[in-house]
Amino acid sequence: MTDTVRATATLDVAHRPRRLRRSAALRDLVRETRLSPTDLIYPLFVCEGEGVRREVPSMPGVYQLSVDEAVTEAAAAAADGIRGVLLFGLPAAKDPVGSAADDDAAPVQAAVRAIKRAAPELLVTTDVCLCEYTSHGHCGILDGETIVNDATVERLASVALSHARAGADIVAPSDMMDGRVGAIRDALDDPEYDGRYTEVAIMSYAAKYCSAFYGPFRDAADSAPAFGDRRTHQMDPGNVAEALREVELDLAEGADNVMVKPAVHYLDVVAAVKSEFNVPLAAYHVSGEYAMLKAAARNGWIDEPRAMMETLVAIRRAGADIVITYYARDAARALA
Ligand code: PBG
Repeated sequence: MTDTVRATATLDVAHRPRRLRRSAALRDLVRETRLSPTDLIYPLFVCEGEGVRREVPSMPGVYQLSVDEAVTEAAAAAADGIRGVLLFGLPAAKDPVGSAADDDAAPVQAAVRAIKRAAPELLVTTDVCLCEYTSHGHCGILDGETIVNDATVERLASVALSHARAGADIVAPSDMMDGRVGAIRDALDDPEYDGRYTEVAIMSYAAKYCSAFYGPFRDAADSAPAFGDRRTHQMDPGNVAEALREVELDLAEGADNVMVKPAVHYLDVVAAVKSEFNVPLAAYHVSGEYAMLKAAARNGWIDEPRAMMETLVAIRRAGADIVITYYARDAARALA
C-alpha cells in the first residue's frame, strides 16, 4: 500500500510535545486549567407570582421564576453540584427611585429567605442595582437625564441592607456608581445592627463595561433604559488601565472580591486584574455571550457542549477563579 506512512522516526528532534497528548490519561495529567462545578455561580431571575416558569426568548434555557420555582431551580442546581446562585429581581411595580429594590417583601428578598430555608448551604449572592426597579430603566436616581451618583449610592446601600436582612451571603453591586462599595460596607457595619451583617461579603462588579452583550439580560430582567445608554457609568470597552484603577478603588473601599464583566470579550482584563491583585476574581459570562452560543447551536453551526466547555475553561485560564454563567447547570452535569 503506497499510502502507508513509515512509523520509523526520521527527524532528529529532542522535543516532541505530542508525547503528552497521546491519550486521555496523559492529557488529563498535564492539564493546566480545570473547571469544577464549585467554580460556578448560577444566575436566576425571580419574579412575582406562583408556579411561574417563563422562558426568556433570547436566552433559551433561562427562565423568569416565581419564588417557589426559584427554590426548585436552586435545589436542582445544588443537586448538580453548584454551590452558589446570583439573584436578580423583577418587581411587580416600578417607579423613578426603584422603591421595590429595598422592599423586604419583593421577589429577591423573598427568594433569599426561601432558598436559605430550603438549602442553607447554598451561597446566595444578590445583584444590587436599581435598573430592574426604576420606571426609566436607569441604574440610579435621575436629575433630568443625568444619573446622580451620591443619591443613587444612598439607595444602593439601602438595597444591600435589605438583601442582608433577608439573609444574603454576598451582595454584588453592579451599578458602577462611585463610592458605592464603601457606602454599602458602612451601612452593613453600622453599629445599629450589632454586627449582624459584618460577615456579609461584597463582590463588586468592579470592571463592568458598557456592553452590547447585556442585550438579552435586559429582556430577562426587563431593565432596558427608556432613553440613552449606560456610558456615563459603565466603562468604555477600549480601557484596561482604568479597570485596574476601578478594582483598586473597590478593594480600598472594602470589596471582598471583584468581578470583570463581560468575560469572553474581556479576557485580557481578567488576566490583568488577576496578575495585579491577589484577590478572588469573578468573571461574568453574560447573556449575549450565552445567547450567541445558543443561537449558533440551534442552527447546527457549533457543537454546543464542546463550545460551552471551551468557553468556560478559557475564562478560568485567563485568571478567573469564579465563573458566573447561565450554563452553570449544564456544565456541572457535563463535569459529573
Ligand atoms: C445590572 C446588571 C446587568 C447585568 C447584570 N447586572 C445589565 C446592565 O448593566 O444593563 C447583565 C448580565 C448579563 O448580561 O447577563 N443590574
